[in-house]
Amino acid sequence: MNNITEPRRTVLVTGGLQGIGRAIAEAFAKTGADVALLDIDGSVHEAAQEIQKSAGSRAVGCRADVTSEEQIERAVTEVNERLGRIDVLVNNAGIVGRRALSWDGSTDDWMRTIDVNLVGTYRVSKAVLPQMVAAASGRVINISSISGKQGSTGNSAYSASKHAVIGLTRTLARELALLGLHGITANAICPGVVDTPLVHGEGQLLDGISALTGQTREAVLEQHVLSQSLQHRLLDPEEVAGMAVYLASDLARGITGQAINVDAGSVFH
Ligand SMILES: NC(=O)c1ccc[n+]([C@@H]2O[C@H](COP(=O)([O-])OP(=O)(O)OC[C@H]3O[C@@H](n4cnc5c(N)ncnc54)[C@H](O)[C@@H]3O)[C@@H](O)[C@H]2O)c1
Repeated sequence: MNNITEPRRTVLVTGGLQGIGRAIAEAFAKTGADVALLDIDGSVHEAAQEIQKSAGSRAVGCRADVTSEEQIERAVTEVNERLGRIDVLVNNAGIVGRRALSWDGSTDDWMRTIDVNLVGTYRVSKAVLPQMVAAASGRVINISSISGKQGSTGNSAYSASKHAVIGLTRTLARELALLGLHGITANAICPGVVDTPLVHGEGQLLDGISALTGQTREAVLEQHVLSQSLQHRLLDPEEVAGMAVYLASDLARGITGQAINVDAGSVFH
């Protein structure tokens, strides 16, 4: 198949309730794929119903926390029972965590960010990969960040977790290749700043930098966010979703172990 509209795949998206994860689930549903949304927030069931209604493909919502192996196992079992299999895994669930200078934060907060963003990605991959290995086919797409390629002021746990997600992705790609499993690829997407609640929400990115610098939210947006990109803009979640759909396609079968920036021209490596 040589286009990126490949129907009847089943896609599991973690953190699928809102923001980038929701856009990814909707984009796959529009290609005809069945989608499963896993999220810590119980409204994920309604989100799945909305997608099913608008796109016409099957959509299942599972409430689960990516820090709980037990909840992940239950969710993966439910998705397999209801949708038959998982062809594409998008590890997207993530948090920014409380912003603090690296020498001044709470270790518990630091560990929580690592637990959700990094270990959560590892846990869900571990639960889903055996069926991809058995089928010798699949796609793992991990949502890292440009903070996975450069430091992120006041956010060492986030930046460390996103760097580590890239390391995990590259290692997985090597391991799959070592076993001759060329039908399974593993890649990371590194978005720049995307217009989602993680950025604008109360206590999130803009508020966090504002608390550190004493600047207004508007000044933070201009000086610390927009000025960092050649295109001087925030990205739409759909732009990240487009890359995920492409990486899941047959056309992208030769792309593995990569960390691809979708960042309006912010980072050049
Ligand atoms: N928004 C950005 O600018 C940006 C930039 C680069 C990377 N990212 C990454 O993209 C991903 C999605 O970000 P977003 O902006 O859409 O965030 P968001 O806060 O809008 O959505 C994140 C989703 O993950 C869910 N979630 C959080 N903790 C969870 C847990 N423990 N278990 C299961 N689900 C959980 C939330 O309920 C939410 O639905 C994250 O990994 C984030 O780090 C975002």
